[in-house]
Amino acid sequence: MIKKLRLNSEKDTDQFAKLIAKNIFPGMIIGLSGDLGSGKTTFTKYLAKHMGVKDTLNSPTFTLLKTYQGDLNLYHMDVYRLENIGYDYELDDYIYGDGVAVIEWYPYIISMLPDNILTLTFTFIDDVKRDLVIEGSGKYEKILQEISD
Ligand SMILES: Nc1ncnc2c1ncn2[C@@H]1O[C@H](COP(=O)(O)OP(=O)(O)O)[C@@H](O)[C@H]1O
Ligand SMILES: [Mg+2]
Repeated sequence: MIKKLRLNSEKDTDQFAKLIAKNIFPGMIIGLSGDLGSGKTTFTKYLAKHMGVKDTLNSPTFTLLKTYQGDLNLYHMDVYRLENIGYDYELDDYIYGDGVAVIEWYPYIISMLPDNILTLTFTFIDDVKRDLVIEGSGKYEKILQEISD
């Protein structure tokens, strides 16, 4: 199933993250894509907030992975630097762990991922607006059904 949303401001991104946080489950995998500055880390910040994470979430671009404790553990990855590697064994435990894995630039490690994940694709429209395409099947469809067309 695919849904498309226009995020008219960061407030909409916050609200969308809230809906996702309401539906989290152990082992959830969220793949994020979109150009630099399109809102992947910003979405993750709001998701963390709604998951009860108290620590400040920073971009893990140079560390590959940061973990946070909330209602469930949040594993925030940015695999941009793995573009030419494509696989990183150390990430396996987190991707297939019992927390929520959020992966910026997930297409770079697509071979490591299960077929069924929730993907969010951000497109820059202007300084405050973004288009968002949300895709998922199986256990993720329930979440997609909650998003109005
Ligand atoms: N609707 C919106 N959703 C998300 N970010 C937005 C939005 N409008 C403006 N922004 C801004 O765009 C920037 C997105 O940066 P960031 O989340 O780091 O992007 P990425 O992780 O995709 O490189 C932030 O400065 C954020 O404040
Ligand atoms: Mg980022």
